[in-house]
Amino acid sequence: MSNTSEALRLIRDQAGDAPVKLGLILGSGLGHLAHAVDGVAIPYAELPGFPHAAVSGHNPNLHIGTLEGVRVAVFGAREHYYEKGNPAAMRLALEVLKELGADSLILTNAAGSMRPDIPPGDLMLLSDHINYNGLNPLIGEPTDARFVPMTDAHNPELRAALRASAQAEGIDIKDGVYAWYSGPSFETPAEIRMLKLLGADAVGMSTVPEIILGRFLGLRCAAISTVTNMAAGMSDEQISHEHTKAMAPMGAAKLERILRHFLSTLR
Ligand code: HPA
Repeated sequence: MSNTSEALRLIRDQAGDAPVKLGLILGSGLGHLAHAVDGVAIPYAELPGFPHAAVSGHNPNLHIGTLEGVRVAVFGAREHYYEKGNPAAMRLALEVLKELGADSLILTNAAGSMRPDIPPGDLMLLSDHINYNGLNPLIGEPTDARFVPMTDAHNPELRAALRASAQAEGIDIKDGVYAWYSGPSFETPAEIRMLKLLGADAVGMSTVPEIILGRFLGLRCAAISTVTNMAAGMSDEQISHEHTKAMAPMGAAKLERILRHFLSTLR
């Protein structure tokens, strides 16, 4: 049996067969929303082919159940490219999500902002992204399905719905372009000046490979960044993973309200 079918069997044994509407991947310091899911939590370690996410501040469990009356699959953690050098680390998990019946994928992450009008604690809805690494999770995929169009990779309807939910909750959320930088070291001030010139508004170490995989699988995708810091050289604050984890909850509360409102519109 393939890892995908074995993982699916194990998940259905615990979570039942009812289809899932949507998948949610939670970023650094944002993992606690997963615990609000009324259902089961399955450790990644029990699911063949799932990532061994080992970044502190992440919750490596797949939560399946209802949130705001919608059946969801919430990934409490992701494997980043910088952990093992594998841009396709989330492929099997996303294939499983698709097989569970999901049609949409919402991603969250922590990011550094290059826009003074999007300060730490604010949220940014990704209007688009720059795959600055040039890495691609579909390298090696043998079928023509690998030639995925990325024009509307960030789904316009999903984005509009998320924006409307933010508005309904009275939360300011700006649109912006996210640049994927491999990490795990943070960027230099010169790199940030370059990324700004290239048209990026925020920088982070995730999300882009998952959007590519999501589009490959035919999932509608959208992503929201929680800004934890101004990018390197843009303020006097020290950038660190500790700081990211400490700051993420500031945006997480707002993010949770937006996502809950958005889910309630899907009921
Ligand atoms: N750079 C890259 N990734 C990040 C940052 C940053 O400044 N902040 C949080 N994640």
